[in-house]
Amino acid sequence: MIVTVLGATGKTGGTAAERLLSAGTQVKAVARSADKLAALAKKGAQTVSADVTDAAALTAALRGSDGAYLMIPSDYTKPDLLGQYARATDAIARAVQDSGIRRAVLLSSFGGEAAAGTGPIVGLHAAEQRLRAIAGLNLLILRPGYFYENNFGTLGLIKHQGINGGAIDPDVAIPTIAAADIGVVAADALNRPTFAGSAIRELRGPRDLTMIDMTRALGKAIGKPELPYVRFPDQGYVDGLKSAGFDPDAARLFLEMAQAFNKALVGPQPDAEKLRTTTPFEVFADAFAQAYRAAP
Ligand SMILES: NC(=O)c1ccc[n+]([C@@H]2O[C@H](COP(=O)([O-])OP(=O)(O)OC[C@H]3O[C@@H](n4cnc5c(N)ncnc54)[C@H](OP(=O)(O)O)[C@@H]3O)[C@@H](O)[C@H]2O)c1
Repeated sequence: MIVTVLGATGKTGGTAAERLLSAGTQVKAVARSADKLAALAKKGAQTVSADVTDAAALTAALRGSDGAYLMIPSDYTKPDLLGQYARATDAIARAVQDSGIRRAVLLSSFGGEAAAGTGPIVGLHAAEQRLRAIAGLNLLILRPGYFYENNFGTLGLIKHQGINGGAIDPDVAIPTIAAADIGVVAADALNRPTFAGSAIRELRGPRDLTMIDMTRALGKAIGKPELPYVRFPDQGYVDGLKSAGFDPDAARLFLEMAQAFNKALVGPQPDAEKLRTTTPFEVFADAFAQAYRAAP
């Protein structure tokens, strides 16, 4: 069996590629950086260095595959975030059609059912719609919660200002997950394909967590159990993202996503299968603590 993995050096695709390889499945690993792909080549993957907007390169990578892991990369520092999602989606959808592959797992998100009001997740909604419309494609849509790894985004704030913070209200419980667990689910679904037609699977870790829960666990892991979580004013949050290098439009979309969590616009859907993955937040908190100690 051959499976093509997009974003194969990333958090979800990297785990998916490794798990497929260790199950004896042949992997075509796609990303831009040949240097980062080299580690997968050493483990036996065929590697393809291509941009996700290059439909011809993606078609060639997908052709002859029994399945594919599809994810939509983007760059928050560049303008027109939703346009980036749209261009990647268009190239991926054309490649799926032109290559004639019959089976794919798409990485979407909790909130992927909504056409507006959820910030960047709107781009994933459009990807879901576009791929579901492809005749003959058996598609499993994964809708995971908030990645634990997002907390790396405030490592500098925690280290240098002694606070955690963001625009999600402190007491809102949100579905959260270890990114690697998504890769495992994707690889297993492609290794033992049981899905047919189009199916949606919501993925979340053992417990939904508030920002206070996550901050408390991070604080404990770094030896600062009193670490506070500060709900920034909306404009302060946007300004903070911009000074961290976000494009202004991307920063606005991230605020919209936080507001969607706060208003409970992002939640379980009746038409979706539910799966809880096993890695607890504390495992991530230990990795965070190591990075915290190593950071300047
Ligand atoms: N963070 C969350 O809480 C969350 C929740 C739900 C869904 N999501 C979705 O998860 C996805 C991100 O997945 P991830 O975290 O596994 O990715 P990631 O760790 O950010 O890695 C991105 C991967 O894509 C490749 N890539 C980046 N830009 C590319 C381009 N222009 N062309 C081809 N390849 C490119 C990267 O390698 P190169 O740089 O070498 O190309 C890398 O392999 C996004 O669609 C996001 O919306 C995120």
